[in-house]
Amino acid sequence: MLKPRPSIAKMSPYHSPIVSRDGLSLDLNESMAGCSPRVLARLRSLTAQEVSLYPQREIGERMVANFLGISPEQLMLTNGMDDALSLLFATYLAPGDELLFADPTFVMYPMLGEALGAQLVRVRSGEDLAFPAAGLLSRISPRTRVIAIANPNNPTGLAASRADLLDIVETAPDAAVLIDEAYFEFCGVTLLPDLASHPNLFVARTFSKVYGLAGLRLGVLTGAADQLGYMRRLSVPFNVNSAVLACLDEALADREFVSHHVAQIKQGREQLAQLFNELGLSFWPSQTNFILLRVGAKVKAFVESMQRRGILVRDSSANPGCEGCVRITVGTPSQMDGVLQAIREAVAETRI
Ligand SMILES: Cc1ncc(COP(=O)(O)O)c(C=O)c1O
Repeated sequence: MLKPRPSIAKMSPYHSPIVSRDGLSLDLNESMAGCSPRVLARLRSLTAQEVSLYPQREIGERMVANFLGISPEQLMLTNGMDDALSLLFATYLAPGDELLFADPTFVMYPMLGEALGAQLVRVRSGEDLAFPAAGLLSRISPRTRVIAIANPNNPTGLAASRADLLDIVETAPDAAVLIDEAYFEFCGVTLLPDLASHPNLFVARTFSKVYGLAGLRLGVLTGAADQLGYMRRLSVPFNVNSAVLACLDEALADREFVSHHVAQIKQGREQLAQLFNELGLSFWPSQTNFILLRVGAKVKAFVESMQRRGILVRDSSANPGCEGCVRITVGTPSQMDGVLQAIREAVAETRI
């Protein structure tokens, strides 16, 4: 009888995070501002030939490397950051090797680690959900092969300091340390300048958030040139599509779109924080495009009440330390009045 590898057979069934697309989708940390109009114009101008030929990832890699001020050998473009995570984990993790991460964090880390048969070493954050730097340092062992850190973190929205992150990178020279900077633009802390001096450091970025290109799938993995060489061997050659490569220069050039969007997110974050304070609800000060809010035991009713008002938010209760919490993506200024009103009504309706 045909059987999958034991590590795959043991995995829990996959459930898409997309529950519904009916309503304003504030449940997946996507950009509610869409993408740059310049990107859209470029997409509309795609020719039949551009679509029919295989994509040339290397041209895009030169563009992004130039933008980030590193060499193309230190960078690889991927099919969203998920693809980068998958390549990096598969390059270093053999069955039984240790994958170390803070908990709660991005759900893909344990999922990908489990598929490879890695030993998952979770370090729980304290009640404040702050980055557990000391806990992670204490769990580094000779079997630690990958340490995955989302900074800022999802679902908490909190960021760790550069000093704490570098401490971990330097304490584990034989492990690949991935700093996942998916929300970098909303926070500003980065370890990219430290790549050259730390051969075990990898920094990943995505075009899914501030650039609003989640549907086109483009991720960026940076690291030491020789290490990235291994991931290039493993990757399929055409992992990045022609459409996103064609509009990459416009996405990078439209700095005004990016800075305007970041400013709007910061303003929306502030509006949500003010409302939560007014309602006496606890939340975590966010450095991302979403906020984690504690609504308490009636979290399910709250999520349903929001949905009836046409707004999807994410029940984050399953994450350790996040019992009774929801994660809410920040909307655009024109959406925020309705969002704030819906939250007021849902809180009143569910009598939180
Ligand atoms: C921390 C973190 N890393 C990576 C990703 C995935 O990014 P991509 O859409 O590029 O696969 C997400 C998406 O929500 C995220 O929150």
